[in-house]
Amino acid sequence: MDRNLALEFVRITEAAAMASARWMGRGNSDSADQAAVDAMRKAFDTVNIKGTVVIGEGERDEAPMLYIGEKVGRAGNDAAEVDIALDPLEGTSITARGGVGAISVIAVAERGKFLHAPDTYMNKIAVGPKAYGKIDLKKTPEENIRKAAEAYGKSVSDFTVIILDRPRHEELIRRVRETGCRIHLIQDGDVSAAIATAWGDAGIDMLLGIGGAPEGVISAAAMKCLNGDFQGQLAFRNEEEKARAKKMGVTHLDKIYTRDELANGDVMFIASGVTHGPLLDGVRFLSGNRVKTHSIVMRSKTGTIREVSAYHFLDKKPL
Ligand code: FBP
Repeated sequence: MDRNLALEFVRITEAAAMASARWMGRGNSDSADQAAVDAMRKAFDTVNIKGTVVIGEGERDEAPMLYIGEKVGRAGNDAAEVDIALDPLEGTSITARGGVGAISVIAVAERGKFLHAPDTYMNKIAVGPKAYGKIDLKKTPEENIRKAAEAYGKSVSDFTVIILDRPRHEELIRRVRETGCRIHLIQDGDVSAAIATAWGDAGIDMLLGIGGAPEGVISAAAMKCLNGDFQGQLAFRNEEEKARAKKMGVTHLDKIYTRDELANGDVMFIASGVTHGPLLDGVRFLSGNRVKTHSIVMRSKTGTIREVSAYHFLDKKPL
């Protein structure tokens, strides 16, 4: 994949972030999400790719834009064929309540390299590069924490696990607490949470728990760029979800996917902050009709991580 594409993609997440950030704190998650989807869909037309959305806003009959299977990009003569995993607004509720850490995100891979994950849940574990190869979803949380802490060269009491604050995690939280490590509970946004484990000094060592499966694939792409580790196992709530997974080509419903089985080959990960968070600043609306955005652009092939701060002059180029 042409490396310059990564810098083209950042315009897309910037556009979605700016559009949805207008809805910050206004209590309307649907409008925030719709604004992100509209802006992202429109911005794709400016990039010369033959893209196929493989992780998107849902099935064609339920999502009019950025649905699974939708073709995106300008598709010029020399356009690269790529698969896209996207979430125009990861953290719709975060944005609606003006909370911390909503992002707009795209991951890109060569054709056929992302798992076509159904819109179900996924049990996840993520750690930073020092604990790469030391995690195993088959093992207990206690064992994974102990092994990862050892790899990080930390005592368990200094180890911090990030978990989505959900009733389904009551037992997990109790067990993790019993190990004596620290817990950071979050309301939403487990893509950022996974990234935090591999993000230098974010102070988060491990992500545990169940979140969205599509977000799992996007997280795996990010972790690949950051040399962190990730595993995921689809978690079904009913037979209908299992049927949906089978329809999407999942043959082993209880398989534990490694990071590279979720996001294989040469991948790119691009995200722009919507609301302020530990990794990215949120969109700032400045005087003089200017807007400032903050993004990251990462490639697994080279490991380069670019932070992009951009000023947008809306008088010259309206949203
Ligand atoms: P949305 O942006 O789609 O609202 O997703 C936010 C999120 O917190 C994800 O990060 C996470 O994977 C998922 O929701 C968890 O799902 P649930 O809210 O059903 O527990």
